[in-house]
This record gives sequence, structure tokens and C-alpha cells, in this order.
Amino acid sequence: MAAASTMITLKFSFLWSLLLSVSLLGVKSSHSHQNGGRRTIPPTCKRIECPTHDVIEVGDGYEIRRYNNNSTVWMSTSPIQDISLVEATRTGFRSLFDYIQGKNNYKQKIEMTAPVITEVSPSDGPFCKSSFVVSFFVPKLNQANPPPAKGLHVQRWNNMYVAARQFGGHVNDSNVAVEAAVLRASIEGTKWSGAIDKNQKAGHASVYTVAQYNDPFEYQNRVNEILFLFEMESERHAI
Ligand SMILES: *[C@@H]1O[C@H](CO)[C@@H](O)[C@H](O)[C@H]1NC(C)=O
Ligand SMILES: *[C@@H]1O[C@H](CO)[C@@H](O)[C@H](O)[C@H]1NC(C)=O
Ligand SMILES: *[C@@H]1O[C@H](CO)[C@@H](O)[C@H](O)[C@H]1NC(C)=O
Repeated sequence: MAAASTMITLKFSFLWSLLLSVSLLGVKSSHSHQNGGRRTIPPTCKRIECPTHDVIEVGDGYEIRRYNNNSTVWMSTSPIQDISLVEATRTGFRSLFDYIQGKNNYKQKIEMTAPVITEVSPSDGPFCKSSFVVSFFVPKLNQANPPPAKGLHVQRWNNMYVAARQFGGHVNDSNVAVEAAVLRASIEGTKWSGAIDKNQKAGHASVYTVAQYNDPFEYQNRVNEILFLFEMESERHAI
């Protein structure tokens, strides 16, 4: 068990350091859209810990989930200004990866989990930059007392509602926008669209969040998700 998870951590370490140094040149996938709109449990979640959730509704092209029970805890970067989600995610993941390798106030190593999520918000800044917050799911073992670290903060989802759409292939700066538009269109006119619009207008939620379950050098059975986070009036969540 410990050996297996060490292997996974090493594998992530190796693959992500390749990604970080080489940069993702010419990586293409023939698997895009293969599972668009359909529900699969990401295969990664059979190997490493992922957050649990209740499925509230499986709609046409969307799924409504609730991440509840006070058990969804994230370690998040400060907002990163960039024009590219891919670049911002790489920048953010670099700090989070150092964090789980022990670069934190307790010098504690933390197991790799999935997904890594990137919250996208519009930025006030010039040059069409957006603001990205990149987060690592804190394993249950560390949730009560995640080691603090400079530049990182804890986010807790309690009764956070999420509209989700899965897609395959590699996340890039154009397909996320397309997938987000498809999710928005699927939700239009459902009973959820009011709550989602309201949260986004109130600035409580990012425009959308991208969840990535695979490291960049896996090519088969990749699962990514576009998420719209929202609250229901009756159940406020605490962050
Ligand atoms: C982004 O991904 C889509 C498929 O998901 C692909 O068709 C497109 O060529 C990719 N764009 C870039 C710039 O790599
Ligand atoms: C919620 O918490 C209870 C009690 O701790 C536990 O039995 C249950 O499995 C949890 N549910 C989820 C979805 O995590
Ligand atoms: C949620 O977790 C936090 C931190 O562990 C705790 O302080 C709070 O009381 C919990 N809330 C509920 C409703 O369990």
C-alpha cells in the first residue's frame, strides 16, 4: 500500500517535472470528446484518493453533484494572472507539488490525490488576462489539520453544488471554453440555471472550474471536467 502510493507519487513527480521543464509541445490526443457528457468514474480515482460526492441529478449533458459532509478540503494558490489556463495551472501545480513533497510548515509529505482543479475568473487587469486559482485535494488523513504553507490557503466545500460535464483528451486553452459553453447550454432552462447565474453574478463562484484527473503524459482514458460551482439558498456552505 505505502509502496504503491510512493510509486504513484514518484510517477507524478517524474511526469510533472518533465512537463514543467519541457513544456507541452505538440501534445495532441485522439480521444477528445470520446466521453463528452457521459458519466464515468475517473480511472485515476481507483488508484488515488478523490473527493466523494452525492449525485443529485443526471441530466442531458450535465450532472448535478453535491460535495457535502464537510469532507472536501482543498489547498489553493493565490490568484495567478495569466492569459493561458494551461500555463497558470502549470505555475500553480509547481507550488502545490512542492507543498506535498514537504515544502510546508510541518515539513510533512502528503499523498498525491486527484483532481487538480483550476478556478477561472475574469481579471480586472489589462491584456485580457484571467485570474486562476489552482487547488490540490487534501487527503482525508490531512483534512483536519492541513500543513500551512506560504502563498497557499485552505478552502473547504460544505454542501457545495456543482454542475459537471466530463470530456476526454488533453485540456487546452480552446477546448475548455468550448466545453464550458456546451455545459452552459445544457443547463439553460433547467431548474438549476437560476441558482448558477445568481452565484456567478454575486461573485461567489468563479466563471468555471476545470478538473484534471490525469497527469499530462497519460494518453488513454483521460477524464477532465468542467464544473460550475453554486450554492442553494437553503444550504449556505462555509469556506
Ligand atoms: C485543443 O483540443 C481540441 C480537442 O479537445 C483539439 O481539437 C484542438 O486542436 C486543441 N487545440 C490546441 C491549440 O492544441
Ligand atoms: C458522511 O458522514 C457520515 C458520518 O461521518 C459517514 O457515515 C458517511 O459515509 C459520509 N458520507 C459521505 C458522502 O462522505
Ligand atoms: C467542518 O470542519 C471544520 C474544520 O474541521 C470544523 O471546524 C467545523 O465545525 C465543521 N463543520 C461541520 C458542520 O461539521
